[in-house]
Amino acid sequence: MTDIMQTEKKSKLVIGLFGFGVVGQGLYKVLQDVQTADATIKSICVKQKNKPRAVDSVMIKYDPDELLQDPEVNLIVELIDDADAAYEIVKTALLNGKSVVSGNKNMLAHHLKELIEIQRNTNVALLYDASACGSIPVIRNLEEYYDNDLLQSITGILNGSSNFILTKIFQQGWTYQKALKNAQELGFAESNPSFDVDGFDSMFKLIILALHGFGTLVDPEEVFHYGISNVSDHDILYAREKSKKIKLVAQVSKVNGKKFTMFVLPKLVSADEYIYNVEEEYNGVIIEGQFYDKQFMFGKGAGAFPTGSAVLSDITARKHNYRYEYKKLNFFASPLYTRDITIEVYLRYHDLVDLSHFDFESISEKYTGPEYNYVIGRLKLDNLHKLKTLIRKLNVFIAWTGKIN
Ligand SMILES: NC(=O)c1ccc[n+]([C@@H]2O[C@H](COP(=O)([O-])OP(=O)(O)OC[C@H]3O[C@@H](n4cnc5c(N)ncnc54)[C@H](OP(=O)(O)O)[C@@H]3O)[C@@H](O)[C@H]2O)c1
Repeated sequence: MTDIMQTEKKSKLVIGLFGFGVVGQGLYKVLQDVQTADATIKSICVKQKNKPRAVDSVMIKYDPDELLQDPEVNLIVELIDDADAAYEIVKTALLNGKSVVSGNKNMLAHHLKELIEIQRNTNVALLYDASACGSIPVIRNLEEYYDNDLLQSITGILNGSSNFILTKIFQQGWTYQKALKNAQELGFAESNPSFDVDGFDSMFKLIILALHGFGTLVDPEEVFHYGISNVSDHDILYAREKSKKIKLVAQVSKVNGKKFTMFVLPKLVSADEYIYNVEEEYNGVIIEGQFYDKQFMFGKGAGAFPTGSAVLSDITARKHNYRYEYKKLNFFASPLYTRDITIEVYLRYHDLVDLSHFDFESISEKYTGPEYNYVIGRLKLDNLHKLKTLIRKLNVFIAWTGKIN
C-alpha cells in the first residue's frame, strides 16, 4: 500500500456524536447529503430516554463512556446544551486521545485555558469554528489569514436571536415580547432567552474571537456585557429620529498598541455602517486592520443547517489533520486586557436615583420629559462593569453611540 493510501485509510473518521438537538440533527442530515466527507456517525449520546428519535435506535446511547471508550471512534463531536457536561465530555475525550469538534461557546469561554494545555500535552486537536457566528468561518480566518500584527478590531453582530428580535421591532413595529416569542418558536433563541438577549452568548463568542485575534484569553467575569431585554418604545423612537437602528454589538479592539478592550452593548448604528443591513438571524463581522482598513464577513449565524455545515467543515478539517496553532497566543506578545477606556453612551432612565449610579465624565445631550429622560455622555467602561449586576435591575436602557477612546 502506498503512503498516500495509508494516510487516506488512517484519516477515515468514525464519529461519536453528543447531542441530537437542533445542531446535532442538522449535522446528521448535512453528513447524509455530503458524499465526499468520508466520515460516519457511529453512535449518538443523548440525555432523555423516552424521546422519539428520527434515527436508527441502535445508534442511540445514554452512557457517555460508550462513545468515549470506543476504540473505533476517533472523533468526538460535542453538540449539547449543557456547558458543564460538555466540559467533562471534551476533556475526557482529549485525555483519551480523541480529537474533538465542539460548538459550545459557553464551555469554551470558561475552559479554553485548560483545554489548550491538554491539546499541547496529548497532541490531539479541538476545533470549534461553529461556536462563533454559526456558518461564518471567523475563527479559522483569524488563525490563518489574520496571523500578523495588523489586526486592530473585531466588531460584530454575533447573536442571531437578538438580531432577529431587533429586526422585527424595527422593520415590523413588533413589541419586544412578541418578537422574542417568535424567535423562540422558530428555534433561533436558546432555551434560556437571557443567554441571547442579555449578551452572554455574544460575550462568550467574543472571548473566543479575542483569543484567536489577539492572543489573550479573558475570564468571562471580567467582560462587560449588556443586552436588549430592557429596550423600550422610547429607545426605538430615539434611534429612528436619528435615522439609526439599534443592534447588539460585540467589539474587541486594540488600545494604544499594547492593550486591548472588549465589551458587548446595544449600539446605535447608522446607515453607513456595514452591520446596518445585517437583519433577521444573520450575523456580520467587521475585521479592521492597519493598511487593509475594514473587511466584512456576513452569513447565517444560527440554525440547524448553517451550524451543521460549520461543524462539517471542522470535521473535514480534522480529516486533513488540521489543528489551531493558537498563533497569536504562542508567537506574539499577548496584549493586556483593559477596561480603562471611555465610551459614549445613550442612557434612558426614569428615576434620578437610577441615573446617580452612573459616573459620567461629561454629558453632551440631555432630555427630560413626562414619560422618560435620557442623557448622552461619556463614562468609563470600568464604571459600567462595576454596575453589571445592578444595571439589569434598574429601569434604564443603555446603547453605545460608537465613540470610544
Ligand atoms: N442552535 C444553534 O443555532 C446553535 C448555533 C451555534 C452553536 N450552537 C451550540 O450548539 C450546542 C447545541 O445546541 P442546540 O441548539 O442543538 O441544542 P438543543 O437543540 O437544545 O439540543 C441539545 C441536545 O443535547 C443533548 N444533551 C443535553 N445534555 C446532555 C448530556 N449531558 N449528555 C448527552 N446529551 C445531552 C440533548 O439531549 P435530549 O435530546 O435527550 O434532550 C439534546 O439532544 C450548544 O452548545 C449551542 O450553544 C447552537
